[in-house]
Amino acid sequence: MTLSFNLSAAVVCITGGGSGIGLGLAERFLAAGSTVITTGRRDSALKAATERLPKLHVFQNDAADAAERSKLVAWLIENHPQLNVLIYNAGIMRRLNAASSTTEDWAETQKELAINLEAPIHLMQLLTPHFLKQPEAAFVNLSSGLAFVPPTFAPVCESFPSTHAFIQLLLSEEYTLPPATCLRCEAFFLGWKQEPSNIS
Ligand SMILES: NC(=O)c1ccc[n+]([C@@H]2O[C@H](COP(=O)([O-])OP(=O)(O)OC[C@H]3O[C@@H](n4cnc5c(N)ncnc54)[C@H](OP(=O)(O)O)[C@@H]3O)[C@@H](O)[C@H]2O)c1
Repeated sequence: MTLSFNLSAAVVCITGGGSGIGLGLAERFLAAGSTVITTGRRDSALKAATERLPKLHVFQNDAADAAERSKLVAWLIENHPQLNVLIYNAGIMRRLNAASSTTEDWAETQKELAINLEAPIHLMQLLTPHFLKQPEAAFVNLSSGLAFVPPTFAPVCESFPSTHAFIQLLLSEEYTLPPATCLRCEAFFLGWKQEPSNIS
């Protein structure tokens, strides 16, 4: 499915858009005339992003924390009531061998699952009532080829196929949204990127 929005009217929140692929996406949406809000944990990255893209709105936020996710959604609805696109881009992939993933502190494992799996599901849940009031809206999830071929060097990457399964569920008939709305759910599967400047 392709986004056929009027991008100049879109109000887009990109999680983790202070650097990397998210920042590249922010630049593209701004160039298309969208209003763009980006989040991230590091103030320094958000500040650098606004220096590069002066029209960018930023909100410091940790997507791994449920209370912070609720705070983000409340702030977005209050400050950007026309918000109609969420690009869930924040994500991590820790390189571990299988043995160390089974013996590490649970808090470390849980943090990865919280960022990659819990957060996109929770944010969709929080934003769906608001998105259903918009003329058109979209959830876009940045996924990975690792959803199909989980690598041995990153065993906690099972979060990718799980998130993918959730997106497929949203796209299936089993999850029914009010039929009059135009709420879309998209997933992009990325290959390997070395430099943010390579994004096209
Ligand atoms: N690069 C690739 O080749 C590739 C391939 C497949 C899929 N992907 C997926 O594409 C997405 C972006 O990848 P990337 O290469 O651009 O990653 P990146 O360069 O590591 O950037 C990740 C961004 O997410 C933010 N972030 C991380 N944890 C966060 C949290 N808890 N809350 C809010 N923001 C958080 C980071 O900012 P802060 O540190 O300031 O929070 C950073 O701006 C990820 O979901 C990744 O899994 C990437």
